[in-house]
Amino acid sequence: MASSAAGCVVIVGSGVIGRSWAMLFASGGFQVKLYDIEQQQIRNALENIRKEMKLLEQAGALKGSLSAEEQLSLISGCPNIQEAVEGAMHIQECVPEDLELKKKIFAQLDSIVDDRVILSSSTSCLMPSKLFAGLVHVKQCIVAHPVNPPYYIPLVELVPHPETAPATVDRTHALMKKIGQCPMRVQKEVAGFVLNRLQYAIISEAWRLVEEGIVSPSDLDLVMSEGLGMRYAFIGPLETMHLNAEEEETAERQGDHESGCSLAWTTLLIEAWILSIHPHSGLTSASRSAVLLLPVLRHGPWVAIFTPSSQGSHCSGHLDLLLGQLALIPAPGQTGAQQKGRQALENFSLHWAQVAVPGKSRTVSVFVFMLQHFLLSISCI
Ligand SMILES: NC(=O)c1ccc[n+]([C@@H]2O[C@H](COP(=O)([O-])OP(=O)(O)OC[C@H]3O[C@@H](n4cnc5c(N)ncnc54)[C@H](O)[C@@H]3O)[C@@H](O)[C@H]2O)c1
Repeated sequence: MASSAAGCVVIVGSGVIGRSWAMLFASGGFQVKLYDIEQQQIRNALENIRKEMKLLEQAGALKGSLSAEEQLSLISGCPNIQEAVEGAMHIQECVPEDLELKKKIFAQLDSIVDDRVILSSSTSCLMPSKLFAGLVHVKQCIVAHPVNPPYYIPLVELVPHPETAPATVDRTHALMKKIGQCPMRVQKEVAGFVLNRLQYAIISEAWRLVEEGIVSPSDLDLVMSEGLGMRYAFIGPLETMHLNAEEEETAERQGDHESGCSLAWTTLLIEAWILSIHPHSGLTSASRSAVLLLPVLRHGPWVAIFTPSSQGSHCSGHLDLLLGQLALIPAPGQTGAQQKGRQALENFSLHWAQVAVPGKSRTVSVFVFMLQHFLLSISCI
C-alpha cells in the first residue's frame, strides 16, 4: 500500500456506504483502511471498488487527480480494529442503522483512540445525543450523513452532539471539502436532520394531494421531475423566494417580460467584455476567450429562465441544466486565491444579475456593472 501525505482514514463497515466513502477518501489522496466484522465483506468491497474505479477511469469520471491504480494502492483491508485505527485522523462508521450496534462500536472505538482522531457516524437518522452518550471522546464525535450514492451526490450533513467541539465540526467540514463533497452544518440535532425533514414534508404533501384526488400519482411526480426539481438543482427554496417572487410578480404584472430579458442579455455581454479585456487580468488571448464565456455560463441559467423559449419550457429547462454544469468550470490560468476572488465577484454579480435584471430599472443594472468593474480594477483578478 502507498504511504499517504494526506493522512489515514478508517472505514468501519464495508457495505454500500463504506465502499463509497473509501473511494471518495482515496480520490482525495488519503490512505484508507477498510474494517468489517465479516472478512468476506472486506474482500468483496476491495474487488468491487477496483472494478468501479476502473470503469470510472475508462469513462473519464474518476474523481481526484490520481489514477485508478494510484487510488487503489491507497486502500487496504484490515481485519483488526485496533490495528486499523492506529495513526488514523478520521474514523467513518458505516455499520447498519441499529442504535445498539453503533453504540457498541463507538464504545469500543472510544476505548482505543487518542484525543485527536475524529469519530464520525454515517447514520441517516440516529440522534448524536443517543449515539455518542457517555463517551470520553464525545468532543471528537460527529455525524457526517452522506446521501446515497455518496460518490455522485456531494451533500454531507454534519450534525454535532451538544458537546461536540467546534474544532471537530470545522475539521470535518474541511475534510469533506477536501474530498470534493459539499458539507453543510446542522446547528443542533433534530430528528431526520435537514435533508430527510424536507423530503418527508414533500412526501407527506404529495400523499395528501393524491389522496384528495387533486392529482394523479404520475402527474404529481412530473411536477417534481419536470418542474420544481429542475429549479432546485440550482437554488434552494429560500433563495428562490428571496430572489424570484417579487421580481417575477412585478415583471408579469407589468407585462415587461421581454424587455427585461433583452436587458439581461445586454448586461451579460457588457460584463463578459469587461472581464476579458481588463488590463489587470494578465490573461493570454486563449484564456481571454474562455473567460469571455464565464459570465455567460454562470448567469446563463438565470437569463434562460427569464427568456421565453421558442422551443418550449422543457427545452429551456435542459439548457439551464447544461449551463449550470458548465458554470462550475474555473477560469484557466488562475491561482487558488484568484479563483476565490473571482468566485466572490461572480457570486456577487450572480445575485445582482437576478435582482437587477428582471423587472428592475436599467439604472440599477448599469450601477451594478459599474460597481463590478470597479471591484475588478482594485482586485486585479
Ligand atoms: N444505504 C443508504 O442509502 C444510506 C444513505 C446514507 C446513510 N446510510 C447509513 O450508512 C450506514 C451503513 O449503511 P449501508 O447501506 O452501507 O449498510 P450495509 O448493510 O450495506 O453495510 C453495513 C456493513 O457493516 C458491517 N458490519 C455489521 N456489523 C459490524 C460490526 N460490528 N463491525 C464492523 N462492521 C460491521 C456489515 O458486515 C456490512 O458490511 C447506516 O447507518 C445507514 O443508515 C445509508
